[in-house]
Amino acid sequence: MSPAKDGDLSVFLATRLLEEVEAELGSVFDLTPARTQDPLRELREIGAEPDAVLVSLDRPMSADAIEALPRSVRALATYSVGTDHIDLDAAADRGLAVFNTPGVLSDSVAENAIFLMLGAARRATESLDLIRSGRWQGWSPTQLVGVELMGKNLGILGMGDIGRRTATRAQALGMSVLYCNRHRLPEEQALGAGFRETAHALVADSDVLLLACPSTPETRGIVDAALLEAARPGLIVVNIARGDLVEDRALIAALGSGQVRAAGLDVFSGEPDFDPAYLDLPNVFMLPHIGSSTIEARLRMGRILIEALRAWSAGGHPSNRVV
Ligand code: DGY
Repeated sequence: MSPAKDGDLSVFLATRLLEEVEAELGSVFDLTPARTQDPLRELREIGAEPDAVLVSLDRPMSADAIEALPRSVRALATYSVGTDHIDLDAAADRGLAVFNTPGVLSDSVAENAIFLMLGAARRATESLDLIRSGRWQGWSPTQLVGVELMGKNLGILGMGDIGRRTATRAQALGMSVLYCNRHRLPEEQALGAGFRETAHALVADSDVLLLACPSTPETRGIVDAALLEAARPGLIVVNIARGDLVEDRALIAALGSGQVRAAGLDVFSGEPDFDPAYLDLPNVFMLPHIGSSTIEARLRMGRILIEALRAWSAGGHPSNRVV
């Protein structure tokens, strides 16, 4: 590690970030960026003793990985809002503080949700294939007819910050919003959206289902054959959250039968090794997990972690401390 700056925290960067984000981190902390694809092993090999380790989705922190961290490590900061790649119980048992990046990426992810909804409703995959293949024969009244979002019901499963920011954008497009959460939101947070107590009740009244909840034991596989059967015929399914909320075989069958009209998917179970059957379905608009991939979100994600680690090392209690 480079010599510590006065009063600075030493941070091992176990993933790679944008140059400008690494520069900001380096201007505040005694930062050691990983040089190899196996950063945790590297950390042990160089004998570093950082105070904190910065990880992200590409650096899962299992109980074993947490156990193998140098004893000097007292905090984990994840460059993500999701924390399902970290064994939080193991982190808590070891007394680690864990910080994430809530709020700062919500606008980018909400914009991506709208992009996926529009792409699915307006047959973006088929349109792009047609125009790029050179097979396009010109305009015709029957060509690639999709559906409008105007006047349709958007059902949001998980009305957190991202869900709410998507709701306001969908309302601007003329959609009515419904939501399902563990608890009904206070009126001022519900944005006029109608509450449904169960996911089944939500899909029965929705034209578009947006998955915006975290992956937890309760939500994993929630989009299964029974849920899709209970849905309005012609539902559009949009997933901006985590791939494992969906049972792929059930969604693929429903996309094939038409029970689900189309899907807009940014995340996949087992990504990047997603179920290849999706590639054969022209009614699937797929993106490679780019929800938060904007320069604005990336910079803010770095800054919120800088603030959290600084406040924590000064004895404060940052609100983005997960454990
Ligand atoms: C997250 O932050 O959890 C996203 O999935 C990646 O930015």
